[in-house]
Amino acid sequence: MISQTIDFTRGVPAPESFPTEQMAECAAAVLAQGGQTEALQYGKSYGFLPLRAWLAERQGLSTEQVMLSNGSLQFIELLCQTLIQPNETIFVEQPTYDRTLTLLRRHRENVVSIPLESDGPDLDALEAAIQREVPKAFYIISDFQNPTGVTTSQAKREQIAAWAEQFGFWLIEDAPYRQLRYRGSAVPSLFDLAPARTLQLSSFSKLISPGTRVGTLMGDAAVLQQLAQFAEDTYIMPAQLNMAIVNEFCRRGYLEPQIERLKALYQPRLEAICTAVQNYLPATPYVEPDGGFFFSITLPEGVTSTMLRAQAADAGVRCSDGRGFFANPQDGERFLRLPFCALTPAEIDEGVRRLGEVVQAISPELSRV
Ligand SMILES: Cc1ncc(COP(=O)(O)O)c(C=O)c1O
Repeated sequence: MISQTIDFTRGVPAPESFPTEQMAECAAAVLAQGGQTEALQYGKSYGFLPLRAWLAERQGLSTEQVMLSNGSLQFIELLCQTLIQPNETIFVEQPTYDRTLTLLRRHRENVVSIPLESDGPDLDALEAAIQREVPKAFYIISDFQNPTGVTTSQAKREQIAAWAEQFGFWLIEDAPYRQLRYRGSAVPSLFDLAPARTLQLSSFSKLISPGTRVGTLMGDAAVLQQLAQFAEDTYIMPAQLNMAIVNEFCRRGYLEPQIERLKALYQPRLEAICTAVQNYLPATPYVEPDGGFFFSITLPEGVTSTMLRAQAADAGVRCSDGRGFFANPQDGERFLRLPFCALTPAEIDEGVRRLGEVVQAISPELSRV
């Protein structure tokens, strides 16, 4: 019997997934170089060269096409400071990652939402939006999207890549979950399909640990050079010691086994949430993800996430406000994101059971109104 509050608010990795012993070994190896170690010195604003070289080689890129930052979110800020001018039009999926929305709003960008379907953005809506105005960029999380869990199909990716090339807009592909696939097989990324038009963000936050704060950006060398200049003038360089430890981790061959361990840990959690939603919220439309951190549901007509959150808190479940993921917040009143990776299968089952009871308790009240 689980008595504690179950927290469905935070899309964080499971703490038991952190490779602490290997990280300690890598940190010791980096520091064993003593005062000579580059990792303790100032370096380039592009980030620690050996890690950039490792990433570039894996992707068949030059090192000028790879930049590192203090977490991938920092690249959104840098892009808003350099590539994107205030009041320019940026397309986003609806719903999308709330922190990106916050940054775009802070920079007064004109945000246009493209509705997300279970296999990616609604292409009719996208085409109509392009006809109205070609955007500067389309921000898209094509694999296991935050917050919905949706993966964009290959056919849709091909069309989006073709339009980006034809109309000359950037694709900002945010791909931190891409390597965390628990089912099926990978589809080509937008960066694979339109490399000259795509700036692909990723991160070691979900693969090693968020505390490392190592984000990556791959793409056009001229755009990266602008970002690197702005970064240098702002914070000199990202934290070099962390990048050197991550570099050691990758070069010792620890990353692939770590990803396999994550998949083995998270795959049963995905199965658990699918089963729990079918059992306790049977009439609720949901997206079944193939990987990543997020499951999402649409609450029944008349049940809003505001009502649900208040009553769920009394029942021992914390949920986030679905409206935060929508450029137009009222469109997200019935949206509920359920991150599943940092909870055990038993906690997931209990949390969704409690949510099912709360939804049932709200619905009869509504039918009496
Ligand atoms: C889609 C997406 N982009 C970016 C980030 C930020 O990641 P980082 O820790 O690398 O800044 C997250 C974190 O949850 C995310 O879900």
